[in-house]
Amino acid sequence: MQKNAVQRIAEPIIGAYDEKSLPAEAVPDYLEENYWWAYLHPKSMRFFEQQWVINSILWGNYARLRDATLDEMGSPISGRTLQVACVYGNLTPKLARRHRADARLDVVDVAPIQLENLSRKLNGDGNRVFLDRQDASSLDFNDASFDQVLMFFLLHELPRETRICAATEALRVLKPGGKLILVDYHQPIWQHPHRYLMPLVFKTLEPFALDLWGTELTHWIKADKPFGSIKKKIYFGGLYQKVVIEK
Ligand SMILES: C[S@@+](CC[C@H](N)C(=O)[O-])C[C@H]1O[C@@H](n2cnc3c(N)ncnc32)[C@H](O)[C@@H]1O
Repeated sequence: MQKNAVQRIAEPIIGAYDEKSLPAEAVPDYLEENYWWAYLHPKSMRFFEQQWVINSILWGNYARLRDATLDEMGSPISGRTLQVACVYGNLTPKLARRHRADARLDVVDVAPIQLENLSRKLNGDGNRVFLDRQDASSLDFNDASFDQVLMFFLLHELPRETRICAATEALRVLKPGGKLILVDYHQPIWQHPHRYLMPLVFKTLEPFALDLWGTELTHWIKADKPFGSIKKKIYFGGLYQKVVIEK
């Protein structure tokens, strides 16, 4: 288990989140040191929550990647779905709306401020959504609990060891035959200007992201059995990828 892993200390809350029930400490060091400006400060959160900002960060590809993710998850969605880590924008409210009345969506994040923010965004769409503070690298769910697990732009933000734990945990909590959906950065084709620009951006803002270039996402998952299937699609000249693993 990773050094700063957080254990779940409160029961999941449906569509709402109560910070008072949680300890202030235990946000992982890498998050505090490298991403405080993006995820932990209330002012930056308000800034990044604007649709045009997240769309610009993804070079105009937010809606395309969001919709590709949602389409992969189906409509309507039944059974249990886990989203590992909150994301800016309207992906999660849209995902929640696709859930059937008897289905359930769990969203976990290690940062209380992000869960509070999601709770606000869900508003009336939160009936079947359970929010919980957990560390992706040591999930507090039983093996084979979920029909689908989603990680949207999480893996590139994690240091290597944490990334391996988080990717492996995502597979562990997935039912046999279930889908693990990973959307993240990818190494663009040679002719793509971003192939030369993005390493500079990553060097300044996303210190672990280049790990994903030239390495398949499946590399980070420690699995004791071969996967049922792997499907990969790249977007925007290869800067982004969606990988769907059937367990
Ligand atoms: C999914 S990632 C990046 C999302 C992307 N930039 C966006 O907003 O669309 C950001 C989230 O990951 C969360 N996070 C980072 N490390 C985590 C961990 N070890 N466990 C759970 N959540 C984590 C952060 O708190 C933040 O809410």
